Parts: sequence; C-alpha cells; structure tokens
Amino acid sequence: MTYSRIIGTGSYLPEKVLTNADLEKLVDTNEDWIYSRTGIRQRRIAADDEFTCDLAERAALNAIASAGILNNQIDLILVATTTADQVFPSTACLLQHRLGIAGPPAFDVQAVCAGFLFAMDVADKFIKTGSAKCALVVGAETFSRIIDWSDRRTCVLFGDGAGAVVLKADNEPGILSTHLHCDGKYKNLLCVPVGVSKNFNQIKAGTAFTTMQGREVFRWAVTAMSDIVDETLNANGMNRDDIDWLVPHQANIRIINAVGKRAGIPPEKVVVTIDRHGNTSAASVPLAFDEAVRDGRIQSGHHVLLEGFGGGFTWGSAMVKM
Ligand code: ACO
Repeated sequence: MTYSRIIGTGSYLPEKVLTNADLEKLVDTNEDWIYSRTGIRQRRIAADDEFTCDLAERAALNAIASAGILNNQIDLILVATTTADQVFPSTACLLQHRLGIAGPPAFDVQAVCAGFLFAMDVADKFIKTGSAKCALVVGAETFSRIIDWSDRRTCVLFGDGAGAVVLKADNEPGILSTHLHCDGKYKNLLCVPVGVSKNFNQIKAGTAFTTMQGREVFRWAVTAMSDIVDETLNANGMNRDDIDWLVPHQANIRIINAVGKRAGIPPEKVVVTIDRHGNTSAASVPLAFDEAVRDGRIQSGHHVLLEGFGGGFTWGSAMVKM
C-alpha cells in the first residue's frame, strides 16, 4: 500500500501589517470590538504589485527547501485559491513555470477557506493511486482584493498570505484519512456574488466584494468543524486524546474556541494564528501548520488534525501522522 507523507512545510506573509488601529481610520470600528469579537489584532496585506502567485511561490520555495528536494522531483502541483492571479491560466500553471518545472499536471482547487483540505485530499489520492510521487500543495490568497474596505462587517476579518506542504509517496502513513463536504444551499450566506459569467460589470467596476451573514456563518462553522472532528476520529478508530494538535481554519477565535470545547480538545493543543494573520481563507490552515512545525510544537510521530470551513458551504479535514 502506498501512502502520502508530509516531508516539508512552508509559508509566506506579505510585509505590510494592517493593525486594528489602522482600520479605525478607515471605518467606524475599534480595537476592543475587533479583538473581543474575533481575536484579531492585525493582518498582512499584499503590496499593490504583489499577486497570489507571488505569495504562493515564496511559500512553495520554503516548503521545497524544508523537504530537501529539487523542484524537478515534483510531479503534481495544486494551488487552493479563491483569488487567482488571472481567469486563466490557473495560478498552479503560473507557479509551475516559476518553479522551472514543465510537464506534470498543475491545477487550481476552489473551495474557498476549505480549499487547502480539498487540495490535500486530491493530492493524497494522486499519490495513493500511483499517479504522482511528490506533490506540492499550496493554499494562497490575496483576499484583500475582494474586500470592501468601507464595510466594517467584513474588512476587519481578512488578510493575505500563503502556506504550502510537500507530500511524498511512502510505505508508511502519512495522511491517515481525508474528509470533504459541501452544501450549496447556503451559497448566499458567504459569497462574492459576481464572476466572469455573471455580473462581470462589477468586476470591471472594481466592486466585486465579499458579502457575509456573519451570525449564520458563525453557527454553521462551529457545527461543521466540530462534527468533522468526530467523523475523522471515528474513521481512524481514534479518540480525542489521540490528537496531539488541532490546526483549524482561522476565521474567528470564538469559532476556534467553541470547536475545541465541543470536540473536547484543550486550548493548549490548538494552533492559533488568527491574532496575527486574520482570516487568510485557503492559506490559513497551511500557514498555521507551518508555524507550529517550525517552532517545534508539531513533531515527528504526532497526530495532527487539520480542518477547514468556507463559503459554499465547504468543509473538510485531514488526519495526519507526522
Ligand atoms: N466594528 C464595530 N461594530 C461592528 C463591526 C465592526 N467591525 N462589525 C459589525 N459591527 C456592529 C454591527 O453593525 C452590529 O451593530 P447593531 O447591533 O447596532 O446592528 C453589532 O456590531 C453586532 O453585529 P453582529 O454581526 O451581530 O456581531 P457578531 O457578534 O455576530 O460578530 C462577526 C460579527 C465577527 C462577523 C461574527 O459573526 C463572525 O465571526 N462570524 C463568522 C465569520 C466567519 O467565520 N467568516 C468566515 C468563515 S468562512 C471563510 O473564511 C470564507
């Protein structure tokens, strides 16, 4: 049996820091409201001439370096993103060219904030079925580009960034299981209701923005991200004490705390970056994961549960043995 193992992680954050105090100058808000309701103190914002593929490239190079492989050993590239550089070619194609690789498949995966889990699932299946031996999986976003910076209900929540992992075929797991879900009937609760085929004028006018019904999203996120912990544990015959680390999507500290409480996972086993990153959508899980690997919290042999939740709704998880 062939499994996939994570052999390297990486991430990248743009230089520009946007604090809550900065936001007080843009909209009618304040540090107390933002921090107490969301747990966010600051987020990073891409420079005007910095695009999703630029962030993806920096994160990918860090992951490749930590894996100790050569670029040309990669035979699959997946980029999870909601904020692609171009309509086409895909950001994964652009990234492949930057990395000097030609030939193997490269494509984007769109599942908004759960996108990295969806991409991990696809890469895992490529490796398990023998279609790939070494996959680069990236979550990268410039979400700041689809935010209305005059809307205080959304602009305080999001940030930009990228995270990446390298997966390699191995006789030992690795990724123990992945779990994906969608329910499109909630499409209007969290969305950018325009695209190339619909209301394209809003894109041309620069008014293609994220809209969200925060309370409903909050309730759903807690339920879905708690239930998927149980689903993942049951699939592996594990119990909550077997989890060394939970790396949840970083949308709101109150969501993260509620999920931890419902799932019975103590706060000291939960990786949190929301205070410094905000919600970076598909980049949030690999960014948090890389941070905890690099600072030595996540170690070889640990069981790590990664989980994401996003617009659609979409949600997913992966149980990983390091
Ligand atoms: N500053 C000050 N006041 C604000 C702000 C702000 N930035 N935003 C909203 N308010 C006001 C509202 O206008 C409202 O005022 P009113 O009572 O006079 O009408 C009041 O604060 C309460 O607003 P609520 O929306 O009810 O506040 P809530 O406690 O629900 O917090 C929040 C809002 C933080 C958005 C919360 O609902 C949440 O986190 N929801 C989930 C968001 C999320 O997870 N999104 C992403 C998930 S998926 C993905 O990542 C794409």
